[in-house]
Amino acid sequence: MSIIDLIKSRRNIKAFKPDPIDEEALLGWLEAASFAPNHRCNEPWELLRIGPETRAKLKHKSDFWGAPVVIALVSKPGATGIERDENVMAAACFAQNFQLAAHEAGVGTFWSSIGGLPHNRELLGVAEGYEVIGVFGIGYPAEVPIAKPRMPISAKTKVLP
Ligand SMILES: Cc1cc2nc3c(=O)[nH]c(=O)nc-3n(C[C@H](O)[C@H](O)[C@H](O)COP(=O)(O)O)c2cc1C
Repeated sequence: MSIIDLIKSRRNIKAFKPDPIDEEALLGWLEAASFAPNHRCNEPWELLRIGPETRAKLKHKSDFWGAPVVIALVSKPGATGIERDENVMAAACFAQNFQLAAHEAGVGTFWSSIGGLPHNRELLGVAEGYEVIGVFGIGYPAEVPIAKPRMPISAKTKVLP
């Protein structure tokens, strides 16, 4: 698939098959994700592999739609507000790289923001200053939703003199 088709066909998956994900492949997508742009090459992303006990405690309303793998992605603190924002941006780039790498292999991802809630941060052991980018369900999609339409890019573009 071309990169354009890959980007356009990735969806936030809300129904997974229970089939397991190959560990080596998963690590390969995460390694690939590390090639995301990041200021000063500080690689501000960190991962939390969520085990069954922690997953149950998170009490996600649909239990991550039955995804066989759940991983939280956090970004490191910054010395300044700007650094903190840059770390979040770089980690979000990591997230999409990962999603697209998995998608190319036919594996879907679900992005949840529940990890940012104070009690979930505590449950995940996220230290102060770290930002939770998302908690991701990962697995083979049982259903792929239709893409929500996007606005034409011209409506999002201002031309400056
Ligand atoms: C920072 C961030 C947080 C998100 N949190 C949630 C969430 O908590 N629950 C959810 O269903 N989707 C969440 N999403 C996914 C969006 O809802 C989804 O990307 C959007 O509906 C567009 O659908 P698509 O990804 O299939 O194109 C999140 C996406 C981002 C970037």
